[in-house]
Amino acid sequence: MGAGRRFKVTVVGAGNVGATTAQRLADAGLADVVLIDIVDGIPQGKGLDMLEACPVTGSDASVSGTCDYQDTAGSDIVVITAGLPRKAGMSRDDLLRKNHAIVKQVTESAVAVSPDAVIIVVSNPLDAMAQTALRTSGFSRQRVVGMAGILDSARMRAFIAAELDVSVENIHAFVLGGHGDDMVPLPRYSTVAGIPLPEVLEEDAIERIVQRTRQGGGEIVSYLKTGSAYYAPSAAIAEMVDAILLDRRKILPCAAYLDGEYGMEGIYLGVPVKLGRGGIEEIVQIRLTPEEQADLDRSAAAVRELITKIGV
Ligand code: LAC
Repeated sequence: MGAGRRFKVTVVGAGNVGATTAQRLADAGLADVVLIDIVDGIPQGKGLDMLEACPVTGSDASVSGTCDYQDTAGSDIVVITAGLPRKAGMSRDDLLRKNHAIVKQVTESAVAVSPDAVIIVVSNPLDAMAQTALRTSGFSRQRVVGMAGILDSARMRAFIAAELDVSVENIHAFVLGGHGDDMVPLPRYSTVAGIPLPEVLEEDAIERIVQRTRQGGGEIVSYLKTGSAYYAPSAAIAEMVDAILLDRRKILPCAAYLDGEYGMEGIYLGVPVKLGRGGIEEIVQIRLTPEEQADLDRSAAAVRELITKIGV
């Protein structure tokens, strides 16, 4: 029998974000999934468990776990979730430097065997880690994209839907900038069944939603205490994988390397991009008010500080 080639997606990091992503991808059945981690046994065990779920969910995906990058060879997409979570007593700078070293090493190992992959970076601090993967891989900026904007706008959508008691499907939300406290939710470009948010919500309600969106990651950490979010992050990653593998050319907010767009040079920031088989097919530029541009500049300055520290 002539077998067609199936898509292959590697997920680096078998922690909560990586494992939940692998599970979502396995359930979707769109691609074979390889879960890789440095802790021997964890990716193998989780991968086998997911494979054994496939007969029940009706997925023909092959799922496996490994510590050996050879097993990831020829991946169409490599999702990088590896990195330390912030621990008590660890400064943001410590975390930045440690995760920089991890993402660098993971990128080197992954691209050596998957030179044609699209890389989706998820590790934090997101924008600086995406830049690390870009520099280390030597890939074009089209093929190194960061996941944050879909997550941030999903949170904003959830909050708007709850506020108005309408379906999440009616809500479109727009968040630009770095994935941090300075991210830039844009109410003007956020809509409810096509109606701009300022037409349907009072200013103070919008402001509440904007603030909660900015602190969305921290809100989850404050409940979990020892970890951060993974259900919504993995859902966002799965949407990106789907858009890329199926060449949907979907416009989604993602972290992209800017080379003049939005007045920014040489920096990853969250912007609307068109995602397709080649990765970032296009960076979509929208007109910003002077205040919105000032907010974006402030967010970029925060990211710039990080990339300067690690020299990427
Ligand atoms: C979040 C963190 C993990 O937004 O980046 O949930």
